[in-house]
Amino acid sequence: MSGELSPIDKAKFVAAKRAAEYVQSGMRVGLGTGSTAAWLVRCLGEKVREEGLRFRGVPTSTRTAELAREVGIEVISLDEAGWLDLTIDGADEFDSELNLIKGGGGALLQEKIVATASDEMIVIADAAKHVETLGAFPLPVEVIPFGWTASQALLEEALVTMDVLGRKTTLRMNGDRAYITDEGNYILDLHLSRIGNARQLAMLVNQIPGVVENGLFIDICDRVIIGYGDGRVETRDINAGTVSEERVDFVEDDNLFRDI
Ligand code: A5P
Repeated sequence: MSGELSPIDKAKFVAAKRAAEYVQSGMRVGLGTGSTAAWLVRCLGEKVREEGLRFRGVPTSTRTAELAREVGIEVISLDEAGWLDLTIDGADEFDSELNLIKGGGGALLQEKIVATASDEMIVIADAAKHVETLGAFPLPVEVIPFGWTASQALLEEALVTMDVLGRKTTLRMNGDRAYITDEGNYILDLHLSRIGNARQLAMLVNQIPGVVENGLFIDICDRVIIGYGDGRVETRDINAGTVSEERVDFVEDDNLFRDI
């Protein structure tokens, strides 16, 4: 029930609910991963069941695929879809240019492929994700398991030439084992504190052997919908240069809040 939801969860929910209004029947839609994206999937499932919305969803992780099927969304692969009308996803950080850090949930590779294969990407987030400069959140970099320590050493060497504050890198763990992505890879988290030139860093990181992809999303996001715990949502459109604010109503005993 919403009464038990924290202000941050309410913020995520209202951002997701507003974003769900952008999905129209007939669309092919990329479905992000993470706690905010999970709210979106639930909101879309409700629209499918109660409003007859018909669209096809391309999930960015096995977790999202399972949830989407569970709530009644038709799930297809990106190859079946070919191209997408829209992708809606969360983010770990976004700046005022709507550049992002993603991959806190470990799904950055599929998320980046899906978002770049879309006409439009909308990010849904609570206000705490907005930063002046990217980098306080550790930057996830997906590497293949073979020779990952060599990739890590090369990454650390490359960071010396970069405008960053910290240079520590850590292998993401799942208990006492390396975290494994949906693609069977590892993730190195780069503790940079501040990234001076995110565009340059994104290009450099991807040139290192063994690196599959990094979590910097540069010039990919078109719009961000920021939710607040009191029900307000702010929509920033980077292409139109507009900012609008409205309120999303939700009832305390909304079905979506059950079983959370
Ligand atoms: C998943 O790999 C990430 O990119 C998520 O989109 C990001 O971590 C945001 O997650 P939350 O919505 O749970 O904060």
